[in-house]
Amino acid sequence: MLFSRRMDDLAPYLFAEMERKIAEKRQSGVDVISLGIGDPDLPTPPYIVEEMQRQVADPSNHRYPSNWGLAEYGEAAAGFYERRFGVDIDPQKEFFPLLGAKEGLAHACWAILDPGDLALVPDPGYPVYSGGSLIVGAEVRYLRLRPEKGFLADLDEVSPEEAERAKVLFIGYPNNPTAAIIEDDFFERVVAFAKKYDVAVIHDNAYSELTYDGYVAPSFLAAPGAKDVGVEFFSFSKPFNMTGWRLGFAVGNRDILAQLWRLKTNLDSGVFDALQRTGAFILNGPWDSVTEMCDIYRRRRDLLADALTSVGVQVPRPRGTIYMWIPVPAGYTSASFSEHVLEQAGVVVTPGSGYGPAGEGFIRLSLTTPDERIAEAVDRIEHSLRL
Ligand SMILES: Cc1ncc(COP(=O)(O)O)c(C=O)c1O
Repeated sequence: MLFSRRMDDLAPYLFAEMERKIAEKRQSGVDVISLGIGDPDLPTPPYIVEEMQRQVADPSNHRYPSNWGLAEYGEAAAGFYERRFGVDIDPQKEFFPLLGAKEGLAHACWAILDPGDLALVPDPGYPVYSGGSLIVGAEVRYLRLRPEKGFLADLDEVSPEEAERAKVLFIGYPNNPTAAIIEDDFFERVVAFAKKYDVAVIHDNAYSELTYDGYVAPSFLAAPGAKDVGVEFFSFSKPFNMTGWRLGFAVGNRDILAQLWRLKTNLDSGVFDALQRTGAFILNGPWDSVTEMCDIYRRRRDLLADALTSVGVQVPRPRGTIYMWIPVPAGYTSASFSEHVLEQAGVVVTPGSGYGPAGEGFIRLSLTTPDERIAEAVDRIEHSLRL
């Protein structure tokens, strides 16, 4: 059987491969602790499950949804953006519902890029930015995120020729995988760059609500002029433990969203109305459960940082996301260290190299594991290094 040439260059998705390895280990009887995938271990809060149960039972939600979504979902998103970020969103033209941020990011590539176009992609970065660009035949120009620059993309590294060719720039803060946050005028500089070179900006806002120690993450769209150049993707997955539900939305530039709508009317039939109504219900608050999740992740972060310190690994305590991004011990690559801890300690960590070439030399640890398992994982890793 012959398949599309497009598939030849497409590597299996990082976590699909990891899931396979974990299943294999568990099947052979190993008690695997996963600090790998950022998939919350705790359940969706009951008040959300109960609302969804009510909505699923309502026959008016059972028919095909519209791709543009329900007015009440858009209005709730606009209300949330106004209250939380001080950003004004027109719910009819500047809002678009998504089956999770991941599909939105990948499909935005189809809507914006042609074969041979250039996409500016952070390195390391969430794999869908490069994967989505490569699937459509675009070329990827990695922007190296350097620890000494706070893991902010350095736009000065892009030559004027590359900037002229670039059609899209992906960014995302609080950042996966580096856990970096924005504390300066980075978003303003991105807007200036995008305007100068006519580049569409996609800001991935999957982690804005998971922050610690008093840090409050801004929206890219709060930067003056941002809506002229870009869109932002919001996801319910991480703040509400809803990864399996597949719910998100995009807000911002109406032209980009209109193209996304046009594309997606040909691909899917929108988001289940019951889920959109539940999304509206969540956005309208209260958000005590998010505060509780932040407390849990902060506690786990401290536990992990303390355990690592006690075995001689000093790591900064991230103020956003659910990850820690740490250098591998001398003598290992990202992959060989990940392999070592899986084989010798039964602990899954994500090799940094899976997020792009600059992720080499790092691993990402996810805080989506119960406290006692985090401490045990560090113990096991330490023991395996002494073997
Ligand atoms: C940076 C980033 N963007 C998007 C997503 C995907 O979000 P969703 O579950 O809404 O598709 C993730 C999930 O890990 C992520 O880390």
